[in-house]
Amino acid sequence: MQGVIDYLEQNESRFVSELCEYLRFPSVSAQPKHRSDMQACAAWLVKHCRQIGLEARLCSTPGHPIVVAKTPRGKAKGRRRPHFVVYGHYDVQPPEPLELWKSPPFEPRIANGVLYARGASDNKGQNLAHLKAVEAYLKTGTELPCDITFVIEGEEEVGSSSLASFLRKHRAELACDAIVISDTGMPTLKHPALTYALRGIIGFEVTLRGPSRDLHSGIFGGTVDNPAMALCQLLGKLRDDNGHVTIPGFYEGVQPLSAYERKQFARLPFNTRDYQKFLGVPRLFGERGFTPLEQRSTRPTLEINGLTSGYQGEGSKTIVPAWACAKITVRLVPNQEPAQVMKRIGQHLKKLCPSTVRLETEWGHGAEPYLVSPTGPQAQAALRALKSAFGYEPVLAREGGSIPIVNDFKKILHADSLLLGLALPDCNAHSPNETFHLSCFAKGQLMAAHLWQELSKC
Ligand code: BES
Ligand code: MN
Repeated sequence: MQGVIDYLEQNESRFVSELCEYLRFPSVSAQPKHRSDMQACAAWLVKHCRQIGLEARLCSTPGHPIVVAKTPRGKAKGRRRPHFVVYGHYDVQPPEPLELWKSPPFEPRIANGVLYARGASDNKGQNLAHLKAVEAYLKTGTELPCDITFVIEGEEEVGSSSLASFLRKHRAELACDAIVISDTGMPTLKHPALTYALRGIIGFEVTLRGPSRDLHSGIFGGTVDNPAMALCQLLGKLRDDNGHVTIPGFYEGVQPLSAYERKQFARLPFNTRDYQKFLGVPRLFGERGFTPLEQRSTRPTLEINGLTSGYQGEGSKTIVPAWACAKITVRLVPNQEPAQVMKRIGQHLKKLCPSTVRLETEWGHGAEPYLVSPTGPQAQAALRALKSAFGYEPVLAREGGSIPIVNDFKKILHADSLLLGLALPDCNAHSPNETFHLSCFAKGQLMAAHLWQELSKC
């Protein structure tokens, strides 16, 4: 192992430049104009995996390609050799609004030990850390105690629609003891985290249509409903002043937090004033009766992600817009059924919609929430690897984000996911000026190197 650790240390600066190379691809899965950049990024990854000694291939899908890379298979000594899948994604969120970036999103920049670029922490930096740990084993001739298969996809940020059928098709090849994923966060460098729960998600768009075209608001205004106004009124009815979602049945099945969990949450470092300042809000807002840490990871929420209607150009234009549209996502917690919640939302929207406009609802991605026991032997092994690499006692965390595919890993491959996130809270994922701390990158490699030793003992 010392050889592996030395290798990681000696090659750190090269690893950072390779990460920068990876980050230069504008691999934005949501935007069709980046289709060829997605291809190029995946091809780069395959080439990179081959260079470090993995057997790698590009698997095309109806959407963006999936990269599969395997360590040379070792011989089982006595007992069956363990096999782990490392999952990650090379696609990134759209970088807009571009004018808020201090340097261009796809021109990586390093300042004070922090790397700035879209995808730096979500998720290129995190999956490259795993690849580098394996590189260290392969290039130093250190025997890996297990077989490893990397599955790095290009559709995570748009709902992973091709991956489930890919898993079904390659079920035998991907059969494994656990999935390892570094695509979550940790509270601070002194609080490395094992995440044992993620929220699920439902995405949809609501459009209200009024007149057959934009109308002169002076001539016709007052005689027809204004779709923008009607949409605002409708959306406003979806929550009350206590931050409670008012859709009937929305909270059905949601479990109250156990005293144990509340105690765990209270152990995590959190300062309301710093948090408020960090987010730039005049005051926090959330469901009454829960702390901010609880609100953002253990409670279901409904958020408007985008709102469009009427004239948005320079100056003014006096119209009653023909339509108004909202992009919405709902985050789900354990025991909420996506299909059931969708049904409830659909019914409620119909009930709320006035007869003066037409309602259209288009359903997008959906994913179940995830919860796994943090007390099993693999979780304990992961905690030991975190402790060895970071030098601090790890914490158990629940996170508010979603990784849609973890439930498919469970259903199709019957394997649990170990969520070992390397992003710090100031990583600006999905925001302008996304970051990845180089110390997280280095510590992440070290953690991954220890992980294979620890996990293979289970
Ligand atoms: N890495 C995130 C998920 C995440 C972030 C989990 C922070 C826990 C903490 C992932 O890339 C992501 O952003 N997922 C999307 C999924 C959606 C587009 C279906 C999300 O959560 O919005
Ligand atoms: Mn993301």
